[in-house]
Amino acid sequence: MVKKVLIWAQTLDGTIALNGQIPWHQHADMRFFAQTTYGQVVVMGRHTMESMHGQPLPGRTNLVLTHDTGLTMPAGFQRILSMAAAEEIAQQKQSDLMIIGGKPIYESYLPIADQLLVTYLQSDLQGDVKMEPVNLGQWQRKVVQAGPADVENDYAYEIVDYRRN
Ligand SMILES: NC(=O)c1ccc[n+]([C@@H]2O[C@H](COP(=O)([O-])OP(=O)(O)OC[C@H]3O[C@@H](n4cnc5c(N)ncnc54)[C@H](OP(=O)(O)O)[C@@H]3O)[C@@H](O)[C@H]2O)c1
Repeated sequence: MVKKVLIWAQTLDGTIALNGQIPWHQHADMRFFAQTTYGQVVVMGRHTMESMHGQPLPGRTNLVLTHDTGLTMPAGFQRILSMAAAEEIAQQKQSDLMIIGGKPIYESYLPIADQLLVTYLQSDLQGDVKMEPVNLGQWQRKVVQAGPADVENDYAYEIVDYRRN
């Protein structure tokens, strides 16, 4: 069975994006994201791929979910048409499946996810794509990292590792 891990960063109201971009600079979160996903198969939606301006994440297999069978991908991205295809590729590569957004992708994978890694930014910034709060009846919460706002980080933050109850 391939392990499925959702990973995202959000502000206090659940915001993950504004105008097609991630509206903050948060070095600690980028470092955590890179360390956690490096060497793995990552799955993203088409909008998230477009927000990366043709630059795939290095050292990772970049899978892009779309319904568009005619969509051409920039070099370094691989189009997939189903979650089953993502699972098959991760299985072949003996990798975890790291689910890196955006919202519809997280929502599709949440019922079958094994782990959630969520960075909470102490910010009241409001965007146009928002996550629902994690259901604490289903998930056990453990803070694994925290830090203040500083020159490298726009906001104080906590990174929470959720495992199923
Ligand atoms: N803060 C964070 O941690 C974080 C993480 C990731 C992304 N983001 C931001 O979130 C924004 C984009 O996210 P988004 O929620 O609008 O969109 P998204 O999930 O990146 O892309 C949505 C698209 O993915 C495809 N898709 C979704 N579910 C599918 C399925 N089950 N099967 C096949 N294709 C499927 C569809 O593409 P087609 O229309 O081509 O069929 C859909 O229109 C970007 O600005 C990005 O920067 C933030």
